[in-house]
Amino acid sequence: MKTLACYSIKGGVGKTASSVNLAYLAAQAGYRTLLIDLDSQGASSFYFRVRPSKKNWGKRFFKTYEQLLKQIKASDFDRLDIIPAHESFRHFDAMLSDQGKREQRLKRVLKGLKKEYDLIILDCPPTLSYLSEAVFHAVNMILVPVIPTTLSERTFEQLQDFFHRNDLPDRMVYPFFSMVQRQKHLHKSTIERLQDTTPRLLEAQIPFSTDIEKMGEHRSPISCFAPRSPGGQAYEALWQEIARKLEKL
Ligand SMILES: Nc1ncnc2c1ncn2[C@@H]1O[C@H](COP(=O)(O)OP(=O)(O)OP(=O)(O)O)[C@@H](O)[C@H]1O
Ligand SMILES: [Mg+2]
Repeated sequence: MKTLACYSIKGGVGKTASSVNLAYLAAQAGYRTLLIDLDSQGASSFYFRVRPSKKNWGKRFFKTYEQLLKQIKASDFDRLDIIPAHESFRHFDAMLSDQGKREQRLKRVLKGLKKEYDLIILDCPPTLSYLSEAVFHAVNMILVPVIPTTLSERTFEQLQDFFHRNDLPDRMVYPFFSMVQRQKHLHKSTIERLQDTTPRLLEAQIPFSTDIEKMGEHRSPISCFAPRSPGGQAYEALWQEIARKLEKL
């Protein structure tokens, strides 16, 4: 079983859009896939038309994997299951702050799912918190969408600094460009500059696309309703690149 997180300290950069499309494409490619929506906003769950559980079970999330098993919901697609977010997930940090070995908690519960799934994808909230530290310790790959603008680049640097200061292995961090608008000078120049200097920068770039924005209307991944559109093809290229890396892990 492999695990990957779509993560950024910054909000609104395409973590959820990427989680949803990658989960769909992984399942289509034959991986038994579980998408866990860690963000209490519940956007991934919404895209897959999966209702959050009515029970306030967030406080049991990190206890045992059996608790997670109980919350798994089937999606409309073969091999793709979802653990939808619950409002109570916004208290994850407070919960983890009281727990011993909190960095290892998520890793431990996810391990319990290794017979059921080939790939687990975590859609993370935009924070740098105890939850994110638990995510960093739990996954094989951290995918970081970076919009080619100054602020998004800066938050990526903050993440790299955090990894270095905390002796975390940055070899698992894979940035990629998201919401790219090549006609904008700033985007073009930022991409050209970072392409030469950023380790593990993925080649695939996700363009800014109204079709991707429309995922909310369709409540479906673009890779499903418009796979041949530029956005759909970009996610396919991103998935292919990630799949090759996952196979080597
Ligand atoms: N490539 C894209 N082109 C155009 N719009 C996009 C693209 N990717 C995402 N969006 C839109 O931008 C908004 C933010 O995207 P998304 O929810 O994926 O980001 P996020 O990083 O998960 O945000 P949050 O930090 O709030 O969880 C959404 O309205 C989404 O539809
Ligand atoms: Mg999100």
